[in-house]
Parts: sequence; structure tokens; C-alpha cells
Amino acid sequence: MMNARISGLRSVELGVPDLNRSSDFYQKVWGLEETAHEGDTVYLRGTGAEHHVVALRQRPKAALLAVHFSASDRTAVTALHAKAKAYGTNGLTELAELPRAAGGGYGFRFKTPEGLPMAISADVARHPDVVTDRSRPTKLTHVVLNSAAVDEQTSFFKDLLGFRHADSTDMMEFIRCCADHHSIAFARGNGASLNHMAYEMANLDGLMRGAGRMKQAGFNIEWGLGRHGPGNNIFTYFVEPNGFVTEYTTEVEQVDEATYVPNTAEYWRNFPGRPCRWNMAGHPSNRLKAAMSGELLVGEDEGAESLRCEEVMARTLGR
Ligand SMILES: [Fe+2]
Repeated sequence: MMNARISGLRSVELGVPDLNRSSDFYQKVWGLEETAHEGDTVYLRGTGAEHHVVALRQRPKAALLAVHFSASDRTAVTALHAKAKAYGTNGLTELAELPRAAGGGYGFRFKTPEGLPMAISADVARHPDVVTDRSRPTKLTHVVLNSAAVDEQTSFFKDLLGFRHADSTDMMEFIRCCADHHSIAFARGNGASLNHMAYEMANLDGLMRGAGRMKQAGFNIEWGLGRHGPGNNIFTYFVEPNGFVTEYTTEVEQVDEATYVPNTAEYWRNFPGRPCRWNMAGHPSNRLKAAMSGELLVGEDEGAESLRCEEVMARTLGR
């Protein structure tokens, strides 16, 4: 199978210094639900069928531990593994059966050329019940990564994993692996790190209900409400208690594989209504920009930011 490729985005795996507190936040405030808890790891689902959209692991410092992608079946996973091996991919693990608590399945891990951890799997259990609560996220819909070598990362994802080009701006390259306009984007920066993760809400009303729940729990909207240019999605951005950036988003453009034509950076430079089509959102807060650069991640050397987060969580959880 020479054309094996990624078929979707599953989940993010995050290291967090306080597992219980982070799990409480992601369940009671962000709107996910625990689906399994084993050892130092909690798996949290959205309202969609994906087994989990976030895995939280107890670690000394907040960190991205993996972005997980799906492939259509075990044959595709095996073919992608062979491609990764031939490509000389860093950090490539052997093919393996995956833990039952994680939904099982079959897959492997690897690293991007800049060293960010990734994983591919198939045959992972899915939830038969789809919850109908529009105020809670349905799925993880995109992850944005900072990169000092955007062109190289984009080529790696296209050549090895089968991503297609979605759009270019001066700041970012957007790439896609399913009908969503983008599942991954690379932001031009000084190095490789997690910029933000975005969770899909069923509609605008659901997004506002989620954003209101965050606001009532003490989390400011750091950018938004607005509508992006590339992808046309409505957005609100927050900084969660570990210092990661989380986004509620909805109405992301659905791409027709046969007819979609990417736009150039010049097109977006001249697009009216930037960075928000509604001319509503303005620019991200300085705090959000710092968090998007990974500067607010909490951990062993906890500073003022983590103390502030503790205060927020104490209010949020009534402690
Ligand atoms: Fe986003």
C-alpha cells in the first residue's frame, strides 16, 4: 500500500504536574468526560465517538507527549510504519498492540524532524453512544505546532503522512488529512513546540455556552470571539491551568477533495478582515502569545503563573 496516509486527528497526550487538578479542569470546566484511568494516566472523551481526545499523564512539568493520528486500518498502519522506517524517521518505535485503557488498537510512535512526538494508530475502540450536549467539545479538530523550519515540517507531513496543503499565510502553513480545512498547522517561530489545540463545538450556541462556562470559572477569553480567515472557523482562545492554549472552535470549512484550491500568503495578506473576518476579535492578548510560545507551562520550577492558575482552579472547583 504505497499511498497509505493519515485519515484523521485523534487526541493529544499531555504531561501535567497535577493529574487530579488537570482532570477536574478538563471534565468540569472544559467539558470532557473520563473514559478510563490507569496508573498515572487519565483518558478523557468528547461527545463524539473517538475513544479519547485528551490523555493526561502525571509528569513533573507540563509538556506535549504526543499528537495522535488515525489510519484507516492495520494494513495502513503497517504501511505507514514501513514508510517511516525508509524515511529514516527519528524516534520510531516498533509496531505494537496498544493499551486496553487507551482503547486498544495497533500503532507506533515517532518524532517529527524537529523532535516533536507523534503517534499513529488503527483499530482503537470507539464509543457507540454519541452524547448530545452542544456545550461540550465533540472532538479534537486541529493542533498548531510552532516550528523553526516550517517548510521542512510541512514536507515531512505531506510526503510521509499523506497530508495535503490547505492554505498559506505569512505566519502559518495549514495542512489537512480529512474534510476539515486543517488538522495541523505550523506557525513560524523560534523552535518546535505546541502552539495550541482546538476542540470542535457543535455550533455557535454550543461554543458560547462553553466559553461562558470558562468565563464563569475565571478563565478570560484571550482571543476572540472571532472568525478566522483560513478555515473560516469561529474561535475563542484560552490559557488552561497548565499553561497550554486551548481553543473552542466551530464551523470550520469542510473541504471537497476534488475541487478545493489552497490560497497563497499573498491572497490572505490582501484579504479584507484580518485576522478576524468580522473585524471583531483584534489580536491575541500578550498573555496568549506567551502561552502559544510555551512560556507559561507550569512545572517543577513553578512561578507566578502556576500560582495564579491554582487560584483560578480553587475558585473553579470550589476549594
Ligand atoms: Fe486554532
